[in-house]
Parts: sequence; structure tokens; C-alpha cells
Amino acid sequence: MAMEIRTTGRAVPARKVTNDELAKTMETSDEWIRSHTGIGARHIADDSVAASDLAIEASRRALESLAAEDGITAEEAAASLDLIIVATASPDYLGFPSTACLVQAALGATKAAAMDVAAGCSGFIYGMDAAAGMLATVGTRKRALVIGTEVLTRITDWEDRGTSVLFGDGAGAAILEKTAAPSEGKGKRGIIRSLLGADGTGAEHLIMHRGGGRFPFKKGETVEKPIHIEMNGRAVYNFAVKIVVETIERLMAEEGISADALTRIVPHQANARIVQAAAKRLGVPEEKFYLNIEEYANTSAASIPIALDELARSGSLKRGDLILTVGFGAGLTYGGNLIVW
Ligand code: ACO
Repeated sequence: MAMEIRTTGRAVPARKVTNDELAKTMETSDEWIRSHTGIGARHIADDSVAASDLAIEASRRALESLAAEDGITAEEAAASLDLIIVATASPDYLGFPSTACLVQAALGATKAAAMDVAAGCSGFIYGMDAAAGMLATVGTRKRALVIGTEVLTRITDWEDRGTSVLFGDGAGAAILEKTAAPSEGKGKRGIIRSLLGADGTGAEHLIMHRGGGRFPFKKGETVEKPIHIEMNGRAVYNFAVKIVVETIERLMAEEGISADALTRIVPHQANARIVQAAAKRLGVPEEKFYLNIEEYANTSAASIPIALDELARSGSLKRGDLILTVGFGAGLTYGGNLIVW
């Protein structure tokens, strides 16, 4: 029994804002942003667009591809889903309803269970592993839709140049299917190994303090700033480099392979410098890591599925390729999936 990625999709807002455009509204420069992060632009959703809207668009693309492959309609593909998991740090609503339920209704995925995963930028990796586990436990469950979707620019403090230049909006989706292929041994397919972890002692380093049960908004209170991301960039950077290296090393060791066996490493796109530092420590060529941060900036839980969809649709991934996804984020969380495409 294998958990295979059948199809993928992505949705990115049309409005692209370059570093030079940002530099007109705050004290920053294209040179600083590029040299410190590798970011060249970010896509920003219109005010009327929320995380569920981008998720629905990305999911429809994945469902259309599945429908074309299976000779069914996109509606039938949606109705065949047993599970929808949405990973997001910028859900439509605080607490509930889950963004996954909004997606389920819009797609007409009437028999699908639906839930959100809150694991920051590692959310898609957590979501894939959760979906694989949930498909495995019940025989009749066959298909899951796993989505990473974010409107981070909506929860960004635009007066803080240290964080606001880093984030962008977008969504990526993958349809995971339980098939008869083997998950180990010769000819193995799908998600063959996952590693998930967390270090909650770093929770304060990446946090949205206000609006939750700990520090709720109170009646009559004048709010100085909308709800927003607060980040200790240096602490997150140090954690990220260390944990990306450790996660890749552990997954390769558990699988008994070297980096040569990997077609691609698809890292969370937070900062090109994090990837470069990790590549150097691992002794792996930088080119093995897929990077699209220049175009999209950090789209948190959406960054890995957007990258997977770009790779898949550009024909860069072939059946049988071994890829490793790796991410880290608020929590602090981290993880990776080893996948035979
Ligand atoms: N433009 C110009 N100057 C700036 C900007 C900017 N946008 N931002 C900060 N600076 C200045 C600072 O004020 C500081 O100036 P000073 O030396 O005069 O005080 C200087 O640049 C250096 O600032 P640092 O914060 O020390 O810069 P650093 O090299 O650490 O880079 C960065 C900051 C890019 C945020 C880095 O720490 C980083 O990438 N951290 C990891 C972030 C990350 O991965 N986040 C993941 C989020 S995941 C999630 O779950 C949402």
C-alpha cells in the first residue's frame, strides 16, 4: 500500500509587488532584500481574497488534472475525496470554522472530512503525513486533498521592515491517493518516509500575540496595530539552518541513502541564505535545492506545494524520482517527507 501524489495545483494572486515598489513605501532597498534573503518580489492578494479562495483555486487545478487523467469530471473528482487537510497560518477565521470546511463546501467534496493543521511553515509537511496516516487507518478511505494556503500579507506589520519584506500570498495543493503499489522495497512509490518534530521552547520567536484566548481584544480597546506576525529573525535563522541540516541527514540515514540518490530537495522558501548555509554544511550542491523565493517570497505553508506544482507542471519531475521536502516554521516546528514521485 503506497501513498502517492497523483496531481498538484497552485494559485498565486496576479498582483506582484517588486522590492523596488516596496522601497517607495518604506525604508528598504532591492539590494538589501536580495542580499539578505534572495527575495525579488511577492504576490499580494486583493482585500476581497482570503486563504480559502486561494486554496479553492489551487485545489480546482489539482482536481482538473486528476479528472483528466481518470476520465471523470472535476466534480466527480471532488466528490471522490475522503479527506481535506488545509495547512495555514492565516486562516479565514480565528479558531473556527476551519478553512478546510470552507474549501470542502466550495468544491462539493461532500463525503470528505475536513480539518486545518496549524504548524506554521511546516504545515504542508505535517499535513501530508497526517493525511497518509488517516488514509492508512481506514480501508475505505482512498483520496486526500492536502493544501497549504496563506494570505500572510494580511497579517504582516507593514511598519516593520524587518518582517514585512519577507512574506507573500499563495496556495498549493496535492492529491494523495492510497494505491496498491509497494511503499517499501523494489518499485516503492509515494511518501516512503516522514520526519516531524517541534521545539515549543522557541514559540516566542515567531508569534502573533493578540486576538487569541491568551490576549484577546477587549471591548472598547483601541488597537494600535492589526493582528500581525512578530519574529526574532536571528533566532529563527539559526534554528532553521540547524534543523534543515539535521532533518535531511536523519531522513537520508533512516532510508540508507546519500544525497546522490535525491533528484531534488524542495525546501521551505523562507530565505535563500538559509538554504545556501544548509547546503554548504551538508556538502550538497546548491543546485539540488529548488528555489523560487525570488518570485514569491515566503508563502509559509504554501511554499512547498507551490514549488512541487511548478516542478511537476514544468516536467522537471519524472515518475520514480526521489525527492525530499524539508521545512521549519512557527511553533517552532520542523519536518520532511521523502517521496518517490
Ligand atoms: N531593509 C533595509 N534594512 C533592513 C531591513 C530592510 N527590509 N530589515 C532590517 N534591516 C536592517 C536592520 O535594521 C539592521 O540595521 P542595523 O544594523 O543598523 O541595526 C540590519 O538591517 C541587519 O538586520 P538584521 O535583522 O540583523 O538582519 P539579518 O541579516 O539577521 O536578516 C532576516 C534578517 C532576513 C529576517 C533573517 O534574520 C532571517 O531570514 N531570519 C529567518 C526568518 C525566517 O526564516 N522566518 C521564517 C518564517 S516562517 C513562518 O512560520 C511564518
